[in-house]
Amino acid sequence: MTNRKFRRVALVILGLASAALLATACAKAPPAPPQVVEKPVVQIPPPDVAPNGCADCHKKEGDKDYTLPAEAKKANPNHVPLPATATVTDCDTCHGAPGKNGAKPFETWIHKVHLNSQTFSPKLKGYCNSCHVLNATTGLIDVKGLK
Ligand code: HEC
Ligand code: HEC
Ligand code: HEC
Repeated sequence: MTNRKFRRVALVILGLASAALLATACAKAPPAPPQVVEKPVVQIPPPDVAPNGCADCHKKEGDKDYTLPAEAKKANPNHVPLPATATVTDCDTCHGAPGKNGAKPFETWIHKVHLNSQTFSPKLKGYCNSCHVLNATTGLIDVKGLK
């Protein structure tokens, strides 16, 4: 073997060796990081089961009275008398924040009562959008029917 030929063979062997080394290095590369699961930025809300708000649920059903004034009376037997036609706007005159005439503001009890209920969500499929709605003009989240 001439000196030049020997050098060429040596170069080829070196080349193969480094390729093999690279291959083993790649094979031992750390595992890829866990895949990031894409989540929608805005969660799609469940269907609105009460387009008209409180009154869609709080009404008379057979011999049961679930109207708002009846609920007030059930929750507090000494509740101030309310007309049978009272709406959430009437309740708000006292239960609107920060609470007037000694009444606790809505936000201290209304969410607790509904969102912890075994009936509101589990049975009636109620959610935030049962009571709340976007006011497209002001951009604020309103309570349906509350004037
Ligand atoms: C999707 C149906 C639904 C809608 C809409 C709804 N409610 Fe209710 N509400 C319920 C159910 C069910 C309960 C009974 C909760 C329980 O005790 O399990 C309840 C209970 C109540 C009570 C009794 C509270 C207590 O301490 O016992 C009041 C008062 C009340 N709701 C007011 C409102 C007002 C005001 C609105 C509108 C802003 C409203 N609800 C909207 C289903 C609804
Ligand atoms: C004239 C004022 C006034 C109006 C109007 C009014 N309330 Fe009340 N309400 C009170 C006062 C005072 C209490 C006793 C203090 C408290 O628990 O907030 C009370 C208590 C309650 C309670 C018991 C709260 C708890 O956690 O113990 C519920 C439920 C309630 N009202 C619902 C209603 C609903 C529904 C309406 C509308 C249909 C309404 N109220 C309208 C004054 C009012
Ligand atoms: C049963 C009806 C009802 C449901 C269901 C409901 N809200 Fe409300 N929410 C109200 C009422 C009534 C007020 C008081 C509005 C007022 O006094 O002007 C209120 C007030 C609020 C406020 C302002 C006061 C506070 O508590 O900080 C926020 C924020 C809010 N709601 C968020 C939510 C979200 C988020 C959900 C769902 C997880 C939800 N609400 C479900 C009726 C409801």
